[in-house]
Amino acid sequence: MKTLLVVSGGDAPGINTALASYVGLAALNQDRVVGSLGGFAGVLEKNFVSLSPTMLIPWISQSGSVIPSSRDPVLSHSDAGGKLIQALAAHQIDNMVLFGGDGSLRYLPPLLHQWGIPCVGIPTTIDNNVAGTELTLGFDSACNFAYPVIDGIRATAHALPGRIFMLETLGGDCGNLALEIAFGAGAHAVLVPEYPYENEWLGRRLAQAVELEGYGLLVICEGVSTSRTLAEVLAQETNIRVRDTRLGHAQRGAAPSHRDRALANQMARTAYDALKNGIRTGVVVVRQGQVTLHEGLLTGAIAPPDRARYEIINHL
Ligand code: F6P
Repeated sequence: MKTLLVVSGGDAPGINTALASYVGLAALNQDRVVGSLGGFAGVLEKNFVSLSPTMLIPWISQSGSVIPSSRDPVLSHSDAGGKLIQALAAHQIDNMVLFGGDGSLRYLPPLLHQWGIPCVGIPTTIDNNVAGTELTLGFDSACNFAYPVIDGIRATAHALPGRIFMLETLGGDCGNLALEIAFGAGAHAVLVPEYPYENEWLGRRLAQAVELEGYGLLVICEGVSTSRTLAEVLAQETNIRVRDTRLGHAQRGAAPSHRDRALANQMARTAYDALKNGIRTGVVVVRQGQVTLHEGLLTGAIAPPDRARYEIINHL
């Protein structure tokens, strides 16, 4: 069996662990693995690299992706199917594993299925917003990344009381990442794109935290507003000094956590077993806490962020 590994869209911590795990399993069984250098754009250009366990060992602990990704929507071009089939045939590739977030796993597997290309997807995104899975690879690491930052904010908040601090996370238009961090860190308020809020309420909530605890901590998802704009609004609303911190893309480059490394190994094994057993279309998912294979295409909507948690954090 010869498998092509493709990373598409935003990278996520744990991808390298999964790549190494997959390649290690394949080597045990004399199967061959190549990686695309540049997502599907790399595939259409036949820009492949042979992957061996020894090559990948130094990358296991690294964030990002050793085989570069791409957001170029090359498969939407009318001649893409023919080109893709030809590229795979030219390199005797039997099947592929696709690492990607919601955009990649929603739109690409149906095309690959239509073109008769066997593919198993692995949900990789710090946003934890892929339909059909409780957890995506990279989410845990991206959550962990926020804690030393919040601890630092709290230290200075304690030393110099009377201020409001805002922490902006990545997450795009999905609030799962911000919500999980706010919950774990005991923030006084959280804002996510899915749920509307009023400035007056937010000001009151944070002013009360400053009064009772000496500081206010707000976590916001980048999709809500830019933290700088909101900081100005909040300062006017409360008459309190507001300082903002953005995690930015450094959060996506977080070091892979234990949980993500374990998940990466389980996901890679599930994908390998599926392809080895002749599955033609599937996605590795987490359901009821277990890593398992969803056979066929993923359908359905992304679950909204946990409303109960949102209300607990915000004292609604
Ligand atoms: O991959 C998901 C994600 O990191 C989101 O959290 C973020 O909004 C987006 O990608 C950023 O995309 P880009 O790297 O293209 O700026």
